[in-house]
Amino acid sequence: MKAFVALLMCLVLFSCYALVSNALDTITTNQSLRDGQSLLSAGGTFELGFFSAGDPPKRYLGIWYKKITTVTIVWVANRVAPLADASGTLRVTSRGSLVLLDGNGSGIWSSNSLIPVLNPVAQLLDSGNLVVREADSSDPNNFLWQSFDYPTDTFLAGMKIGWNRTSGFERYLTSWKSIDDPSPGNFTYHLDPNGYPQLLLKQGSDIKFRSGPWNGLQWSGTPNLGPNPYYRYEFVLNEEEVYYHYELLNSVITRKVLMPNGIVQRFTWIDRTQGWTLYLTAPIDQCDNYASCGAYGSCRVDTSPVCRCLKGFVPRFSHEWDILDWSNGCVRRNPLDCEEDIFVKYSSLKLPDTRSSWFNKSMNLQECKVVCKKNCSCMAYSNLDIRDGGSGCLLWFGKLIDIREYNNYGQDLYIRMAASESALLPSPQRKHKLVMGLAVSFGSVFLILVLLTICVLQCKKKKMELPEGGIRTSLGGSENVECSGEDPKLRLFEFATIANATNNFSTDNKLGEGGFGPVYRGTLKNSQEIAVKKLSRSSGQGLDEFKSEALHLARLQHRNLVKLLGCCTQKETLLIYEYMPNKSLDTFIFDQEQRKLLDWSKRFHIISGIARGLLYLHQDSRLRIIHRDLKASNVLLDCELNPKISDFGLAKSFGGNETEARTKQVAGTYGYMSPEYAIHGVFSAKSDVFSYGVLLLEIISGTRNRGFSHPDHPQNLIGHAWKLFQEGRSIEFIDQVVINTYNISEIIRTIHIGLLCVQKCPEDRPTMYMVILMLGSEMALSSPREPGFFSETKGPHASACVSQPELCSNEVTLTALSAR
Ligand SMILES: *[C@@H]1O[C@H](CO)[C@@H](O)[C@H](O)[C@H]1NC(C)=O
Ligand SMILES: *[C@@H]1O[C@H](CO)[C@@H](O)[C@H](O)[C@H]1NC(C)=O
Ligand SMILES: *[C@@H]1O[C@H](CO)[C@@H](O)[C@H](O)[C@H]1NC(C)=O
Ligand SMILES: *[C@@H]1O[C@H](CO)[C@@H](O)[C@H](O)[C@H]1NC(C)=O
Ligand SMILES: *[C@@H]1O[C@H](CO)[C@@H](O)[C@H](O)[C@H]1NC(C)=O
Ligand SMILES: *[C@@H]1O[C@H](CO)[C@@H](O)[C@H](O)[C@H]1NC(C)=O
Repeated sequence: MKAFVALLMCLVLFSCYALVSNALDTITTNQSLRDGQSLLSAGGTFELGFFSAGDPPKRYLGIWYKKITTVTIVWVANRVAPLADASGTLRVTSRGSLVLLDGNGSGIWSSNSLIPVLNPVAQLLDSGNLVVREADSSDPNNFLWQSFDYPTDTFLAGMKIGWNRTSGFERYLTSWKSIDDPSPGNFTYHLDPNGYPQLLLKQGSDIKFRSGPWNGLQWSGTPNLGPNPYYRYEFVLNEEEVYYHYELLNSVITRKVLMPNGIVQRFTWIDRTQGWTLYLTAPIDQCDNYASCGAYGSCRVDTSPVCRCLKGFVPRFSHEWDILDWSNGCVRRNPLDCEEDIFVKYSSLKLPDTRSSWFNKSMNLQECKVVCKKNCSCMAYSNLDIRDGGSGCLLWFGKLIDIREYNNYGQDLYIRMAASESALLPSPQRKHKLVMGLAVSFGSVFLILVLLTICVLQCKKKKMELPEGGIRTSLGGSENVECSGEDPKLRLFEFATIANATNNFSTDNKLGEGGFGPVYRGTLKNSQEIAVKKLSRSSGQGLDEFKSEALHLARLQHRNLVKLLGCCTQKETLLIYEYMPNKSLDTFIFDQEQRKLLDWSKRFHIISGIARGLLYLHQDSRLRIIHRDLKASNVLLDCELNPKISDFGLAKSFGGNETEARTKQVAGTYGYMSPEYAIHGVFSAKSDVFSYGVLLLEIISGTRNRGFSHPDHPQNLIGHAWKLFQEGRSIEFIDQVVINTYNISEIIRTIHIGLLCVQKCPEDRPTMYMVILMLGSEMALSSPREPGFFSETKGPHASACVSQPELCSNEVTLTALSAR
């Protein structure tokens, strides 16, 4: 009873943490902190103490959030020298050094601050900074030592990442080795002081990601990290120091962490859900990978392929470039000459690597150009600060590396180019040049005229040659599509060729029935194997529409999509794909024998591959495409069991800002269709996410959603997964074939992700981008709610979509659809 009263008092009075958890507020030389005790910050936000991690568990001295139920470690003292048992003691020596002793009294970690003081105390500040200072010092910010100088993997408000330029002392982040091993991992996050400073994420000595230089508001390569109301960050560069830091503007709890897998993520704590939510991530996409397009190459996520050379540059090795190996980058079309060179403006860029750059804060753009022009090894210049119309000067020496282009973001860069590239200058400037030329001499005008004439003649000749040289396809008459050099990828096949290849569409060659018609296997004369899809006439699409769509689809290139080789529009509408020898996923996962070939690592590989293919369709490809019929039989496997999504041929592509559409013709497959699509015909990328979730659960369980039955309950596979998940029995959901092969926790986590994908409301489902992040990291997952369509019973109490009664009313349509 007394204890109860004490506890109650504690709830009322904040000050009695010490009473409950045996916490201290400072450690003096006469005290020590033993395992089981803790040191609290004055505001009670952070706590210092001992914690266990790893298997077998080891003990570490660390700092974590006091009030957050999910233990979140923000700093570790002895990350390389763990304690073997719960016998650790932390002391402050009379010389002001913190030492951590093991059970035998030998020091295993020390702060090594050796400034003799009278009365040193250790204190945990409310910022999460563990400091040692003179107890009676008049200056409370005069620390003998502070943990903020030795960050581990977490960047807290008030910390600095960067350098003391006088002493050469650097503060940087180092990842944990793994999620439960705090020892230093392979990834580090630095502020690189060479040239104009920028943040670099490194794996060992390799650069993985670069923030780009600071432009006065933010880093040049982080469009998502603009000024915001939650925290204010700042880049400081002065004689004494160069660093990056942030401070909180309200009571939001946020931390930035360098994860063991080399991703930098910012999380914020949401009290309502009692969980950390992901706020920002870097690197974010393919174009964030350092130098992904090589020197003078530019990366654009919304084009396919993502890399191209900057205007005026050509691939260094075109044979490599053609097979999507961009690492050697691009070279100038016309060599520089130094004296005569011009500067061409390129806009909306992430500025190139500044490690070999030079800057001056007080020069303006014109002065900057003059300085750059004078030095022949200066390759480009730009403003240093984009605020107030731009100021400062940044010059690059050597190759320009790691450039990307954005749509509504990015900076201007002026690149040194040969004078012969003056066509790249904007027209007014060009006119200016021409006028100058006129003034200089009549002779040069004459020369220009001659050159122009030659050029015009040449171009004409080229144009006339084009039909021969370009890929003109073998169809006769009006059916001809003349592919000019720009779209060489779609081949138009003659009907006879395909009929020949498929033995006149014989039943022996039939592979199966796809979403929009039968599929045949064939062999072309050059012995290339193909799969031919015959589209049923009923699709109602006009020929032109079809051709333009097929042309677009031919440009989709991703290793998790089946490649469309060409099409045929004579007599029949045919789509010709590459042939996949291992057939489709359903012939593996649902087959008693074949399923044994897929252990967990293969299944996970397939699950991740499908996710990447879908993300490409949804987001990365130039067209944004909703597949609408993702299912096991539409995922083909190549000889190495890499998944390739097929049948996206008649998927819906979206223009610019459309995100959702409605169709009268609900085509899809029962069991994979999301509620909003099956019932209202509304589809969006999120309906594909639903189908993906079903497919994921099927891959893990080796069971079809459609037709699943369980003796204990009437629910389908989704319902079964949900029921087991809620009861903490997800392990029973896993296919017996894989249960012994691998890390169970990873499989259970994947089931969790699957359940998030099959949520009833589209807005509760993650995007494919999030799915890939979740699959590839250990980030916290939100709790799934009841999924959609988890029951197939037809009674009046059927499914639990009480909130949206109309979702239940249309069972008949569903049954009719199930014929497919
Ligand atoms: C520590 O203990 C010594 C000896 O017992 C005493 O003289 C000294 O005042 C103590 N210091 C503090 C800070 O309590
Ligand atoms: C203490 O020392 C003994 C002998 O060196 C060693 O076996 C033991 O593991 C040590 N204990 C701790 C807690 O370090
Ligand atoms: C940088 O290091 C020098 C030399 O150790 C020191 O005197 C100075 O106070 C440091 N500057 C800052 C801002 O910490
Ligand atoms: C870290 O790097 C080492 C050597 O490069 C490598 O053997 C090890 O697998 C890497 N560890 C991780 C977690 O990537
Ligand atoms: C920067 O430019 C200003 C103005 O042109 C000049 O006075 C100053 O010396 C320059 N600073 C450096 C470091 O070159
Ligand atoms: C051009 O700039 C580079 C790098 O700053 C410097 O090393 C070189 O001496 C300069 N050359 C001339 C001619 O000024």
